[in-house]
Amino acid sequence: MSIDYNEKIPNNVDIAGDRRLRRALENWQPAYLKWWENLGPVESANYDVYLRTAISVDEGGWAHYGLLKMPEYRWGIFLAPPEPDRKIGFGIHKGEPVWTDLPGEYRAELRRLIVTQGDTEPASVEQQRRLGKICPSLYDLRNLYQVNVEEGRHLWAMVYLLHAYFGRDGREEADEMLLRHAGDPDKPRILQAFNEKTDDWLSFFMFTYFQDRDGKYQLAALAESGFDPLARSCRFMLTEEAHHMFVGETGIARIVQRTCEVMKEHDTDAVRPLGVIDLPTIQRFINFHYSICLDLFGQEKSTNAANYYSMGLKGRYQESKIDDDHVLSDSVYRVPEIQGDKVSQIEISALTAINERLRHDYAKDSDRGIQRFNKIIREHGVDFEFKLPNFAFNRGVGTFLGVKATPEGKLIGAEEWDRRRDEWLPPKADFDFVASLMQPVTEPGKMAGWIAPPKRGIHGQPLDFEYVRFH
Ligand SMILES: [Fe+2]
Ligand SMILES: [Fe+2]
Repeated sequence: MSIDYNEKIPNNVDIAGDRRLRRALENWQPAYLKWWENLGPVESANYDVYLRTAISVDEGGWAHYGLLKMPEYRWGIFLAPPEPDRKIGFGIHKGEPVWTDLPGEYRAELRRLIVTQGDTEPASVEQQRRLGKICPSLYDLRNLYQVNVEEGRHLWAMVYLLHAYFGRDGREEADEMLLRHAGDPDKPRILQAFNEKTDDWLSFFMFTYFQDRDGKYQLAALAESGFDPLARSCRFMLTEEAHHMFVGETGIARIVQRTCEVMKEHDTDAVRPLGVIDLPTIQRFINFHYSICLDLFGQEKSTNAANYYSMGLKGRYQESKIDDDHVLSDSVYRVPEIQGDKVSQIEISALTAINERLRHDYAKDSDRGIQRFNKIIREHGVDFEFKLPNFAFNRGVGTFLGVKATPEGKLIGAEEWDRRRDEWLPPKADFDFVASLMQPVTEPGKMAGWIAPPKRGIHGQPLDFEYVRFH
């Protein structure tokens, strides 16, 4: 199913045939472009960037690569093709045909789900806007910009749903997406992880490894939705998300590799004076990003999540592959509970534990990459191992809110936490050190000294290809 690029707003949903919708979106577009200009990647409007653009929503639809200026990127509305006779796969409507129009009784819930998802998309662009100035290579700079334009398109995907199905309050919500800003004290983004700073490239790779993976799991759960336009939007967004996680995983892997090379070459752990990032610092960044992302999944026990599930609005990860009744009224799931100074697991209704289950799926997936980083360390004969911290560590949502715990999950007092916090979470000195390495490298084929080159270039191009042209 190809995308109509002759339209002012490229799309595969025939907005030409719906004048009201088309007008609403055409009104929103200038505000979006203004937002991109003001809060998108700094000073980048005239750069030619080797970007990938979707030309169709089928597999292989990503074949189009070329140099273009980011404000001319064809942001638009692309839904995965409809599945014929698709049925709702879970909850009390299981087996009924999916809704191709908004189910009126679930309007408020769907609006909330769409707004919460949509708000994260421009937030990440805002968080990453200054990174281009300190890129480690043109290859990486291009990847940053590719992620940024796709997050911009994800916002379009959610704004389309608001405009097409919600009328006036949908249009108001779409406007609000451009008025809240990451880290704004008065009008912050909805979820806290999307208000944190991403001021250096170690943070950026952690972000695309951990935050974008949260995105993958949220989108996968929404891709199961009985509200078919939402499901189809999210299914197409997932194809873009895979690239974001690739950027994160390979970015961290290349940093780890470079550090290990320098450790071997100089036979020392004290690598900071040699201009690479020591492994304990990388571990502290992992601890920080992973723990704030665990919060994004919400409370362990949640009636909202239970309702979204029962209503057929938001499923579990790979719902159709799970071998159970997909109604869950008689099932249980284990969640943590604090009893005295210990964390115990208790059984609650699987319906109210939907968030916790998604958090577990996310944790397993996050650990796979960590093990690949450990393999790089082992291959260099270095004695060090990364570990994901326990669910109890550094949490701001749910059972562990306000709890002090070590990365191993042992509950501790405030005094021990204060004394040891900087062993576990990056202190200012870590950020200062990492910031000191962030000198821009923009000569084609050259890499900053703290990161190994990638295995290959983009779309068959050599590594010294000029992926971004500044003029
Ligand atoms: Fe996204
Ligand atoms: Fe993403």
